[in-house]
Amino acid sequence: MTPPPTHDSNLSLGERRADALARTSEHVLRAWREFDHAREIETVPSAELRALLEEPLPEEAHDVIAMIDHAAAVLDASLAQSRPRYFGFIGSSGLEVGAIADLLAHSYDTNLAVDARAATDLEDQSRRWLADFLGFPATGGSFTSGGTISNLTALAAAREAALPDSRRRGLGDARPTLYCSREAHYSIVRAAELLGIGREQVRAVAIDDERRLVPEDLDRQLAADRAAGRTPVAVVATAGTTLTGAVDPLDAIADVGERHGVWLHVDGAYGLPAATVPGVAERFRGLERADSVTVDCHKWMYVPKACSAVLVRDGDRLARTFAHDEAYMPHDGEHRNAVDTTVEYSRPLRALKLWMAFATHGARAMRGAVARNCDQAQLLYDLAAAHPELEVLPHRPSLSIVPFRWVGGCADPDAHNDALCAALQRDGRVFVSPATIDGRVYLRPCVTNFRTSDDDIRALVDVVLALGGNCAALHG
Ligand SMILES: Cc1ncc(COP(=O)(O)O)c(C=O)c1O
Repeated sequence: MTPPPTHDSNLSLGERRADALARTSEHVLRAWREFDHAREIETVPSAELRALLEEPLPEEAHDVIAMIDHAAAVLDASLAQSRPRYFGFIGSSGLEVGAIADLLAHSYDTNLAVDARAATDLEDQSRRWLADFLGFPATGGSFTSGGTISNLTALAAAREAALPDSRRRGLGDARPTLYCSREAHYSIVRAAELLGIGREQVRAVAIDDERRLVPEDLDRQLAADRAAGRTPVAVVATAGTTLTGAVDPLDAIADVGERHGVWLHVDGAYGLPAATVPGVAERFRGLERADSVTVDCHKWMYVPKACSAVLVRDGDRLARTFAHDEAYMPHDGEHRNAVDTTVEYSRPLRALKLWMAFATHGARAMRGAVARNCDQAQLLYDLAAAHPELEVLPHRPSLSIVPFRWVGGCADPDAHNDALCAALQRDGRVFVSPATIDGRVYLRPCVTNFRTSDDDIRALVDVVLALGGNCAALHG
């Protein structure tokens, strides 16, 4: 084989390529094997590693193998959502074929802005597969960097539908409004800010005792705003709230939305994959009536960050919102470029990891993994409910978030649960983040990892019980 040309500014790894790849794959293999089981303690950065991370900009070259070893050491001493006892926030799992897909995609560095030939077809196919998997009749959509951008993209399309040509003329004296439950993700408020709707025009719709949006209150607020001459842009239903996993009643919300002629967006960034699970799918009845949906494949479809999708029932809506005719972005006849349907220009081939996940494991296994996480949430609820020192919410988990708190006799339960959460994170055997629900502090584990076993769920409760009783140590 001809060696790569050498010159002073050559940035190729040249003859070190094979060694570098081999060393990288050793580290990856070790990590994957380790992720199969929980760690008993969290690795903290060594003094040597800390010193490395204080070093100034290197002017000269370093050995690539040494740097791969350092990079692996940094990651090993970092919080990894891939570990089976990571229950914080809403985790991802670094699916193995997803990581391989990223390496391939980043090596070719394909740009999905304009037509990239086969990669563009693969992205389209992935979108169709995803829509089929979820049972949503999409005719268009886009892969984005996250739920925040997917929600923004959908709501931009909703704004253009409610106020045609506003992308060109601005909002003028229109008075747009947006509707979501008070437990919708803050990216909805952020979208309202960015789209000129204004955060004060986001109507916080009441929730019921299972923390789901109340359609009657939505109806009332829409009617009042219409009567006051305002223009409702969209209703956002959340299919899996970030706080507790509540699924808003999509069918009833679609009825209200239809009556008022308003765009329905379903934010299923976290929860939508559960729409494929028998016994849970009923909660998502009415999904097919939405105008747009968001789903984060980097959450409960296990692929590495970042891979979200916005799917729309009428694909033209995105083009009407985002298409531009620029001289440097040639169109192939009527064929639209990907950039004409999304906010971003340069875009990596994010869809490859989802495509690899579906193709390698099959939809049935993906569905099965989500179902198992749902079952584990029920197990966790039962285990926590069985202990008098622990308190759960009055209703069972809808999806895979199971808030519970220590109530075993400390003076200030909220301060105690805050301190307990910090102690759990220091301890390192499990990782849980806190949340405040109705003014009370809870531990809020979320199960979205295919590696998590029932034993990991039991270990979570055991560790909480082991640390929770020691008020003096926690507050000392
Ligand atoms: C319901 C919901 N929507 C949107 C988002 C934002 O997603 P991302 O972090 O991918 O931007 C989240 C994140 O947790 C979420 O739970």
